[in-house]
Amino acid sequence: MILAEGMLKPGALKGKNIIVTGGGTGLGRSMGEYFLELGANLVITSRKLDVLQETAKEMMVVKGGKVIPLACDVREIDQVEAMWKDATDHLGQIHVVLNNAAGNFISPTERLSTNAFNTVLDIVLKGTSQVTLTAGKDWIAKKQTGIFLNIVTTYAWTGSGYVVPSAAAKAGVLALTRSLAVEWAKYGIRSNAIAPGPFPTEGAWSRLLPGDLLKKFDPAKKVPVGRVGEHQELANLAAYLVSDYSSYVNGEVMTIDGGEWLKGAGEFNNLDQIPEEMWDMMDASRGKKA
Ligand code: COA
Repeated sequence: MILAEGMLKPGALKGKNIIVTGGGTGLGRSMGEYFLELGANLVITSRKLDVLQETAKEMMVVKGGKVIPLACDVREIDQVEAMWKDATDHLGQIHVVLNNAAGNFISPTERLSTNAFNTVLDIVLKGTSQVTLTAGKDWIAKKQTGIFLNIVTTYAWTGSGYVVPSAAAKAGVLALTRSLAVEWAKYGIRSNAIAPGPFPTEGAWSRLLPGDLLKKFDPAKKVPVGRVGEHQELANLAAYLVSDYSSYVNGEVMTIDGGEWLKGAGEFNNLDQIPEEMWDMMDASRGKKA
């Protein structure tokens, strides 16, 4: 099926060294695998070195190339700086940073402890800022160009109940992306973001919506195109945005959600629940012939 097919030319990312935070599992892993297939070398990071090592091994068997697993909690600046140093020691110049690491709790906000709220802010906003600042300062000092791709969410601009720390933090990441896209363009550093809608991942989905909740709140039902996303669809977009084909794209946030967030936004969109017969009756009542 075309949805599961890679879109870019073979070798489109040849020679690019790419860091993927949160790259051991889920969407980070899927995007990383496609970058590797297109010829990139990868550094994948998360807190769990054992998971990263296993993923790196599996990726290299299937896709070839070089994948370096580095433990890094993005909340800790010492770990971020050490990871950056290790990454450059292993690969030399880093060309792309994919800020993908995230955390989220679905909960009424008043039930969250201060520590829970701060945990999400710290991973998403502070973590992304720390990786961005570390990479950006080094690129600027060495007169190297670079590309940031940040994963946000469609509720970064609308906000959303029940995921408030995530919404606040992702809004911050979006502002960071757009601000630096302008400020650092003079150094040859581009910044873009992707706002994904529902893309199933084993970990996050079962943690965020445990048990029957996933069935009850089936995310596919909220998507106008009637389905959730395929990982390769997201990987295709990410690969384009970190490739030189998108050199003129800067400060953009690209939504990939099958129209989900707009469906929630349009005042009359839920009229799709009105059956045809009722539209017929309404037409008839204003004298329209069938
Ligand atoms: N709902 C509400 N609060 C929660 C929670 C949940 N599901 N899980 C943890 N917390 C609270 C904890 O009680 C703690 O607060 P407290 O000290 O006041 O009790 C605080 O959040 C930090 O929890 P802790 O487990 O110590 O955090 P951590 O730093 O070890 O890990 C995460 C935080 C987010 C990395 C971890 O929970 C995780 O891996 N989550 C799943 C990853 C994820 O969210 N992926 C989705 C990406 S969008």
